[in-house]
Amino acid sequence: MTAPSPGPFAAAFPPEAVRRVACVGAGVIGGGWAAHFLARGYDVTAWDPAPDAERKLRRLVDAAWPALEQLGLAEGASRGRLTVVPELRDAVADAEFVQESAPEKLELKRSLLAELDAAAPPGAVIASSTSGYPMTDMQGEATDPGRLLVGHPFNPPYLIPLVEVVGGESTDPGAVAWASRFYEVAGKSVITMDRELPGFIANRLQEALWREALHMVANGEASVRDIDASITEGPGLRWAFMGPCLTFALAGGEGGMAHMLDHFGPSLKSPWTRLEAPELDAPLRDAMVEGCEEAAAGRSIAQLVAERDQGVIDVLRATGRLPQGSGGHKDRGDATAEGEST
Ligand SMILES: NC(=O)c1ccc[n+]([C@@H]2O[C@H](COP(=O)([O-])OP(=O)(O)OC[C@H]3O[C@@H](n4cnc5c(N)ncnc54)[C@H](O)[C@@H]3O)[C@@H](O)[C@H]2O)c1
Repeated sequence: MTAPSPGPFAAAFPPEAVRRVACVGAGVIGGGWAAHFLARGYDVTAWDPAPDAERKLRRLVDAAWPALEQLGLAEGASRGRLTVVPELRDAVADAEFVQESAPEKLELKRSLLAELDAAAPPGAVIASSTSGYPMTDMQGEATDPGRLLVGHPFNPPYLIPLVEVVGGESTDPGAVAWASRFYEVAGKSVITMDRELPGFIANRLQEALWREALHMVANGEASVRDIDASITEGPGLRWAFMGPCLTFALAGGEGGMAHMLDHFGPSLKSPWTRLEAPELDAPLRDAMVEGCEEAAAGRSIAQLVAERDQGVIDVLRATGRLPQGSGGHKDRGDATAEGEST
């Protein structure tokens, strides 16, 4: 089904040299990307077929701009560097990078990506914001599928740093490496995946939580309010600055992840969630322990505990849940910020 790539990806220029970006599809995500790239000092050309797209896009960028000013604009960054054009080919004709953010419909994405591939200059990478389609399923109609890849953002792309980068079966690994570097230069936090996985990484994790929440509401086991509070008053406070694996390692005390797994491993057999656990065999145990050591990057358990504690206090303060100038006292009795509970 997939057309053969015309050859290895040959970038027209290094990621650091990009100045002109095209945003194709300018709704919530395309508009958010446009705001981000403008704030980082790029020239942005946008195209969207909706009749009122330009008005909506400029309104979105205007609304985002105060936040972007707070974050600090790149030198020369200006909303005046946004151009909205009536023809798709004009948007990408001289683009050095293309970000596609059209509606999540497979057939639309397949033909649009082929159109973009035909119109964009050779050597320009074309990234899709898709929330879930593997690029393998979208790149089949393109003449040069080697330069097509997924660059999956989180809403709003001008504030949430994460972008997950992954190619399809016909994507050239050189294009993936180029895009990952480009996004880094453009101020994003990049996760480069070496294989396609439905939902990528972050959405799989979000979705597991989301489905369990829906189950609990459907069964009358918990209210929406309690589900939300269980995260914002509980583990969500930690996840803003330390991921779920490293925070769980701290539940193992001085023994870290190894002790945590030995202690709580049997709970994996308990019906604590509808999602089935994998077998906690030796290779998985080792992978978790080694992964946490790598993530700790030389920091001791004591240092990580101190970082976590300070991080929770910072988040509580930043979200107005500590009295001004408080050293750590909470002003709401219902907040449970920490503890060695997993
Ligand atoms: N909304 C999110 O939180 C989120 C997060 C990450 C990724 N995404 C992905 O981003 C993409 C865009 O989603 P969105 O939430 O911005 O949707 P949206 O409906 O807000 O915007 C889609 C835009 O695409 C335009 N459009 C329609 N047909 C088009 C075509 N043929 N070519 C180009 N543009 C066309 C529409 O006019 C609209 O402005 C989807 O692939 C979605 O899965 C969304």
